Amino acid sequence: MSQPRLADLVIVANRLPVDRVTMPDGDSDWRRSPGGLVSALEPVMRAHDGAWIGWPGSTDDADLEPFVEDGLQLVPVHLSEQEVEEFYEGFSNGTLWPLYHDLVAKPGFHREWWDSYVRVNQRFAERAAEVSAEGATVWVQDYQLQLVPQMLRELRPDLRIGFYLHIPFPPAELFSQLPWRRQILEGLLGADLIGFQLPGGAGNFVRLVRGRVGHKTHRDLVYLPDGRTVKACAFPISIDAAGFIELARTPAVQDRAKEIREALGNPRKVFLGIDRLDYTKGIYPRLRAFAELIADGLLDVEDVVFVQVATPSRERVEEYRILRDEIDRLVGRINGDLGRIGRPAISYLHSSYPREEMAALYRAADIMVVTPYRDGMNLVAKEYVACRYDDDGALVLSEFAGAAHELRQAYLVNPYDINGMKASLMEAYHAPPKETTRRMRAMRKQVVDNDVSAWAKSFLSALADIRPEHGKTVRPARGE
Ligand code: G6P
Repeated sequence: MSQPRLADLVIVANRLPVDRVTMPDGDSDWRRSPGGLVSALEPVMRAHDGAWIGWPGSTDDADLEPFVEDGLQLVPVHLSEQEVEEFYEGFSNGTLWPLYHDLVAKPGFHREWWDSYVRVNQRFAERAAEVSAEGATVWVQDYQLQLVPQMLRELRPDLRIGFYLHIPFPPAELFSQLPWRRQILEGLLGADLIGFQLPGGAGNFVRLVRGRVGHKTHRDLVYLPDGRTVKACAFPISIDAAGFIELARTPAVQDRAKEIREALGNPRKVFLGIDRLDYTKGIYPRLRAFAELIADGLLDVEDVVFVQVATPSRERVEEYRILRDEIDRLVGRINGDLGRIGRPAISYLHSSYPREEMAALYRAADIMVVTPYRDGMNLVAKEYVACRYDDDGALVLSEFAGAAHELRQAYLVNPYDINGMKASLMEAYHAPPKETTRRMRAMRKQVVDNDVSAWAKSFLSALADIRPEHGKTVRPARGE
């Protein structure tokens, strides 16, 4: 295997920040995936000879060597077909995902899934150990890789290691169901700094470490017997707000937004939901609430439409297949019962769209509806807010999304309470412009002032401040 250049900053994530695309001539190439994480980290990656370790997303890339794409050094980690089943679909998305999201679905606990999780985490840790320069900073991302910090520390005690969990960290009552709870806690404790979306998640973690592992703790610090201190605190993630605003202002996006409204028959108000098709997102109760408002005669399909975009996700996992069937059936029934010719109640799209189309949808929507049962943050809510540069539009937001802690001026709802959601949808629908402007202005300030580059900076600075005498210091330069 060719040896990549040693890096001073290494990002370790389940996925590489690129997708394989097939060109018109049949060849395939890589294209930067639209996520905010890579755009936030790009400047600091370039400044510090960064490398990104991750899975390319398919099992066909067994012999793929490290490569440079658009100036970023990418280091692929191969997963076999069986590892995709046991590590990715199994332990990551069949055990941890539902367990960390309040048991919205029932997690499976299978020993062979766990064994695969350990093996794959070890592989990621080994790759990180190989590509990191002496004293480098390594930043491990998300629930798929919680054992990497400790495994990597054993291989390379000279590194400064950070970990960030993008999804919620559950309370002890739920986490304790996990047969491998102690190994996960110890895996995370290999990091110097562990970041969570919310202070509640950090608190859950510290309490569990005290109770289950028996280490001394004080506020957000954990004291390990070997003298090391680990910090666990919240760093709410955000979006590339300036990028979205710029995109939303382009004539192409504005024209497309008009086109979308026309194609929908120029309704008075457009409601919008955009989610990965995931059972945590609360798509079902949201569509039911909307349909009941039509059935009750409070909304009329001549005036309103609900555009629901559901991005295909984890389609080989059983619960996701069941969900797709349930939503298909519900949409069919609602449109069959309540639609008129040329006027469906719900315009349902099972597809993923590029950023430009998303921005046009945000611009076309009067009321954005984000109602997860549980969500680490929910960046769609923040993207909608960023794109409303005229300070108009309303956001209906679940109080169980991390974003609700920052976007206090949204119409906050409990997705388990259908009547409550109906009332909030109507409140947003009837809100006078003065009221929606007041709310949107406050939310936009929050999102613009706290964008994803501020998030990355604050995490990396906090990581550099821990054991400052140790390792090289990777700090985002001013202005990055
Ligand atoms: C969530 C997780 C990410 C994950 C993404 C897409 O946002 O926090 O780690 O990459 O979903 O899911 P997928 O399974 O397609 O990677």
